[in-house]
Amino acid sequence: MADPKSPIAEGRSDSYRMEQLDADAEVARLEAQVRLVTPLENDFLAAVGLPPDAWLLDVGCGPGFFSERAARDLVPQGRVTGVDVDPSLLALARERLAGSGLAVDFVEGTGVRLPLPDDSVDASYARFLLQHLTDPGVVLREMVRVTKPGGTVCLVDTDDGALLLHPPVDGFDELLRASYQAQKARGGDRHVGRKLKALLLEAGGVDAGVRLYPFTSEQVGAADFLRVTTGFKAGVLGPPHIATERLKQISAALEQAQQVPGFFGHAMGYAASARVPRA
Ligand SMILES: C[S@@+](CC[C@H](N)C(=O)[O-])C[C@H]1O[C@@H](n2cnc3c(N)ncnc32)[C@H](O)[C@@H]1O
Repeated sequence: MADPKSPIAEGRSDSYRMEQLDADAEVARLEAQVRLVTPLENDFLAAVGLPPDAWLLDVGCGPGFFSERAARDLVPQGRVTGVDVDPSLLALARERLAGSGLAVDFVEGTGVRLPLPDDSVDASYARFLLQHLTDPGVVLREMVRVTKPGGTVCLVDTDDGALLLHPPVDGFDELLRASYQAQKARGGDRHVGRKLKALLLEAGGVDAGVRLYPFTSEQVGAADFLRVTTGFKAGVLGPPHIATERLKQISAALEQAQQVPGFFGHAMGYAASARVPRA
């Protein structure tokens, strides 16, 4: 049970607040992230094996990029429910999909208390959500609760420990450290990727497994790679974790690095799944 005085008791993310970001830039970053992640995600989901008529829950769906694709390609005879705490992102998701004919609905709610009865959905999914939570275990237990016995809980997230650049960018390690500390102070975890399997097992999942997917600047180009992997950090960072002037210097160094013809960026997607045990 969450401490009633903690932000998570309100069901809000502690480290992801759209009102603290440049909304257009963040939605564009999420869209670029989808382009980067989709081929890896397809491989992961093929291995998980979702039945085409499944009911899929997308927790922390944001503007609904994954919900849309899932309704169209993954469960074309089923349905998708997207849940998010942020009404502005849900409004955007509904607007984008109005008239699409896809079987997807968007519901305002929190992963801390999912607005669904026990054993409702065939599979539940959370993409790039856990890194923003104070207590991901609370949300995972909710995902296990609302997923039918024998169904699947799937997670996709990242881990800054696997983020590497060449040529070396002055201050990049400092940026990663500051962003780890800033997210930790607000209740998130930029090292969550390595913990996904353990978290699924602790939440009551069985047969948990994790797959790693490298993604690099070769796939999307230097600018999109940096936007996806460092855009969120630059958007939320500042004092006391890093001085504003220093952040500007590092951002400028990143801008310069992406012009270098031999620029190479490497990051890792972590895709984990577990089954909900049958009674
Ligand atoms: C980084 S975005 C990822 C959005 C989407 N899953 C994607 O991959 O494009 C994180 C999302 O989680 C939502 N969120 C944060 N805390 C939440 C919570 N406790 N319950 C439900 N959604 C939450 C945010 O509003 C935001 O839309």
